[in-house]
Amino acid sequence: MLTQIGPNPLLPHLVTALPGPKAAAIIARDSAVISPSYTRQYPLVVERGEGALVEDVDGNQFLDFAAGIAVVATGHSHPRVVNAIQKQAAKFLHMSGTDFYYESMVSLAEKLARLTPGNIARRVYFGNSGTEAIEAAIKLARYHTGRDKFIAFLGSFHGRTMGALSLTASKVTQRRGFHPPLPVHHIPYANCYRCPYGKQPETCNVECVTVLEDQLFKTVLPPEEVAGIVVEPIQGEGGYIVPPPKFHQELRRIADRHGILLIHDEVQSGMGRTGKMFASEHFDVPPDIVTLAKGIASGLPLAATVSRADVMTWPPGAHASTFGGNPVSIAAALTTIELLEEELVENAAQIGAYMLERMKTWPEKFRIVGDVRGRGLMIGLELVLDQEAKTPAPELRDRLEMMAFERGLLILGAGRSSIRLCPPLVITREQADFAMDTLDECLKRCEG
Ligand SMILES: Cc1ncc(COP(=O)(O)O)c(C=O)c1O
Repeated sequence: MLTQIGPNPLLPHLVTALPGPKAAAIIARDSAVISPSYTRQYPLVVERGEGALVEDVDGNQFLDFAAGIAVVATGHSHPRVVNAIQKQAAKFLHMSGTDFYYESMVSLAEKLARLTPGNIARRVYFGNSGTEAIEAAIKLARYHTGRDKFIAFLGSFHGRTMGALSLTASKVTQRRGFHPPLPVHHIPYANCYRCPYGKQPETCNVECVTVLEDQLFKTVLPPEEVAGIVVEPIQGEGGYIVPPPKFHQELRRIADRHGILLIHDEVQSGMGRTGKMFASEHFDVPPDIVTLAKGIASGLPLAATVSRADVMTWPPGAHASTFGGNPVSIAAALTTIELLEEELVENAAQIGAYMLERMKTWPEKFRIVGDVRGRGLMIGLELVLDQEAKTPAPELRDRLEMMAFERGLLILGAGRSSIRLCPPLVITREQADFAMDTLDECLKRCEG
């Protein structure tokens, strides 16, 4: 339990300069032994968390609008999730669902199959991380179609293991030095704020999708060699970009026309974050395969690749993982889904709409805000140096992140020049107001 140190138990309170002495000492040790490939933006060293608050090792309390990179959907250490974990941990920690059976794994698969859009029979493969869910989807798509190539989108992030990395096209550092990738053709995502075809969403012909049939399939990519189109329903790491529904609808049509599997990566956008259980529900387009991780188990490692049952027909031994579907993670996931269905998906929809309503005015209010977009509690704020030219402002974005941290608000960057807000789905209006007031003040200072 967090001890109340500020006047309001739901809001942050800082008691030292940042980083405090204990945090600074740990960061010094970290810098000597931890892989330098991690991307820490500010010096937060966590000691405990509760709901949407986290406390650092020096006793500073922060409001968490990062949620462990969109993971702790039910907040930090939700008592019901902790209780489910403890009960399962006391029964057994591991058996390996790949070689033995346990009921909770079946229950979770039944639940995910029921929740996945499409109203058709589904089967579920369990892994431990987002990238593993994607690896499973890649292998399954190849196995089912007998084809080897994929289509993915510029700006997308699908993970960092070799198959997933081949799809990822977010930052060149993530790929530099790791070639050769799998055969993946990347095309621009439907980013209507920066339309790669110079069109307006109301009048465009989804050139970002029709380019497949009009150009790629006629020149470099025989469609009968394409196993899958892998797409984030709302692009996450790339900047929280919300495409128009016709983008997804057209992708579905093209996939169907050419026998290509449509794979939705909902690792970040799934499990209630957008105010619906799956972001694809906003566009009314069901996937053939969907990948899930992050928010699914409130912080325990778990991933799921949910597929059309008639696609997931690979034989025993074709794919498996010792830890995939760990029973403790599954217990956390079952309770997480209960909480999501009881109230948290609805809370994400309501608080998200409340926040977007206020933040939508920011491009008029602040000359450094180019765009505000999102669904539910997946909200992006794109910073620019010049609204007319839409010049990206990565330094300003980094400064804003640091300024928010110094005021007790944890946020993350996304894309080249955006801030993403992905708090736990338990946040209250008061916490949303604190976050928006803080950002408002920081934006004013950045402009001043
Ligand atoms: C959409 C998406 N897919 C896949 C991944 C990879 O997940 P993980 O980091 O758990 O491997 C991420 C991680 O940010 C993601 O946002």
